[in-house]
Amino acid sequence: MRNTAQGFGPETNEGGAGARPRLTVIGTGYLGATHAVCMAELGFEVLAVDVDAAKIDRLARGEVPFFEPGLDELLRSNLAAGRLRFTTSFEQVAAFGDVHFLCVGTPQQPGGQGADLSYLHGAVSALAPHLRRRCLVVGKSTVPVGTAAALAARLTAEAPAEGVELAWNPEFLREGFAVDDTLRPDRLVFGVASASAEDTLRAVYAPITSRQDTPVIVADFATAELVKVAANSFLATKISYINAMAEVCESVDADVTTLARALSLDDRIGGKFLRPGVGFGGGCLPKDIRAFLARADELGVGHSLTFLREVDEINLRRRERVVELARAAVGGSLAGRRVAVLGASFKPNSDDVRDSPALAVAGLLASEGAAVTVYDPMAMDNARKARPELSYAPSVTAAVTGSEVTVLLTEWAEFAELDPAALGGVAAGQTVVDARHALDPARWRLAGWTYLAPGRPAMPAAAVPAARRRRPTPRRARAAFSAAQA
Ligand code: UDX
Repeated sequence: MRNTAQGFGPETNEGGAGARPRLTVIGTGYLGATHAVCMAELGFEVLAVDVDAAKIDRLARGEVPFFEPGLDELLRSNLAAGRLRFTTSFEQVAAFGDVHFLCVGTPQQPGGQGADLSYLHGAVSALAPHLRRRCLVVGKSTVPVGTAAALAARLTAEAPAEGVELAWNPEFLREGFAVDDTLRPDRLVFGVASASAEDTLRAVYAPITSRQDTPVIVADFATAELVKVAANSFLATKISYINAMAEVCESVDADVTTLARALSLDDRIGGKFLRPGVGFGGGCLPKDIRAFLARADELGVGHSLTFLREVDEINLRRRERVVELARAAVGGSLAGRRVAVLGASFKPNSDDVRDSPALAVAGLLASEGAAVTVYDPMAMDNARKARPELSYAPSVTAAVTGSEVTVLLTEWAEFAELDPAALGGVAAGQTVVDARHALDPARWRLAGWTYLAPGRPAMPAAAVPAARRRRPTPRRARAAFSAAQA
């Protein structure tokens, strides 16, 4: 036997002292590929499986199918060291592994708000019938609360071996920092139903916990599942909070960037996830808050999460606001106007365009008849696939040439370095909408551009002619007072 009733410990399994449990990773998307590579980097033997043979071929050749800083190098060195292998055979995976990590995607249901669990159930269907010895199956995917209990029951019913157990161990990695977040996590959460499962997870993560002080939270399944969605909901709420402040700022010509900075200096609030702009996107936050709401409704506690509906709506309104600024910049109608869009990925240092606010805004502009040309340093291929109706340019200069308004939608570092004077020379109209507050307004204004940004006054207070400044006339003061009382 490879493991003991106390779980897998570095000294307890087959192979003698110092041997470690053998790991498998099911699903080699963003989460799974990163997890497989990082666990091999920690010294484990890892076998990863996916139903997508083309993806498995690429990974086995040392190619990461998406952009993630540092992951290629670690993939290649661990393949070369023989610790990491890829397969499409679940039978092989079941025979190999002591611990199986479920890392498949749980996207938003097509046409619904809840999570689509078909990949997760598919993975269990493919694995369970081959499990012929004791092992621990560990869920890492983000799931509606209650999923782990259901999967545990399925494993008991469908695995031929006795002692096939489930644990839930949510993952918090951010794209762009995935390697570091996996090797040096803020915390580890173990949702377990037995001491043996906890011991096994402690053995698996010992290479991390032994070299740094990583807090381990041991919980039941439901709490472990909830930690992930609660964390993502909190982050989304923080972003929508500051974007709601941006809406208020817009109504009184106040500056949300200054407001956010002042708030961030309060230790209790902090500045992280308090950057206003065009809002959140990506493969996690938007679908996770919707799935959480859908699950809460099913559980009869939808009222507790009503605010998340507003969080989602504020987020989507920010996209409309950016379109409004661009529309106003070209005189009230976008039909037939040429718009340059800088950025397509949902955040910088990523080629991911899933639920990208940048592409959503580009699509909204095009739907109003604008001729939209998009440039992104890394996400061009994915953007073309997602939005083939848009035009794409090979550089910022090419995108801006002839454009009547330029809209910055992803805060790539290279955009902050652009030369506004040179771009002014090729643009047909010098208005820039800086939807991410990534540019230096003074530099752009000095070069002759009209600088617009959500949540900021169209002109800085000092530059607004005295006649245009809103003074609290008695009539305005009375109106404001009545509104406040209403
Ligand atoms: C997120 C969570 O951070 C991570 O813990 C979880 O495991 C997966 O989801 P990720 O999707 O990689 O990670 O992106 P993140 O860096 O969180 O950014 C999400 C979105 O919020 C991006 O579109 C980003 O531009 C936006 N954002 C972030 C803001 O608009 N303002 C901010 O202050 C921070």
